[in-house]
Amino acid sequence: ADSYDEECDYLFKAVLIGDSAVGKSNLLSRFATDEFRLDSKPTIGVEFAYRNVKIGDKVIKAQIWDTAGQERFRAITSSYYRGALGAVLVYDITRRTTFENVKKWMHELREFGNSDIVVVLVGNKSDLTQFRQVSEEEGRNLAESHGLFFMETSALQNLNVEEAFLRMITKIH
Ligand code: GTP
Ligand code: MG
Repeated sequence: ADSYDEECDYLFKAVLIGDSAVGKSNLLSRFATDEFRLDSKPTIGVEFAYRNVKIGDKVIKAQIWDTAGQERFRAITSSYYRGALGAVLVYDITRRTTFENVKKWMHELREFGNSDIVVVLVGNKSDLTQFRQVSEEEGRNLAESHGLFFMETSALQNLNVEEAFLRMITKIH
């Protein structure tokens, strides 16, 4: 660990959720290490990454957990959510079913997550405009109806990725 790590003022856990292939792992690698992979494989089990964020004069260490969207590759759900203060719920703007499944993920969040967990709804792959199946307005309306923050992102083009995570982090602190 470097000295910057040891000087962090707060440590918190957040989770990524959403259907398979919506781009959770690439959003995380973009946020944590500024990397993107076109050929990324489905996540199996649980992975996580850290990133230190400076807010005001405080250093916040965000530990972001990432798991499989595919049911058969997921680890025990209750331990995944345990202690999480934030969640990034991702759908793919080019696949309507991933948007329809947001309510399924909200249900799981309510069942296993903290009651006061801060949630950002993210419509990813905003670069693929010609294949869009979900309008930005629909995304925003859904977020509003559940009291969530909302943002469209592109992990590929690095659009709004930082903003989405930072919105969650600053709301927590
Ligand atoms: P699981 O681990 O199976 O739950 O999937 P995931 O949600 O982690 O998706 P992943 O990050 O592995 O991305 C799936 C595919 O979408 C990969 O081919 C990525 O390159 C691609 N992808 C991710 N984000 C974007 C994006 O913003 N734009 C485009 N065009 N492709 C993306
Ligand atoms: Mg993944």
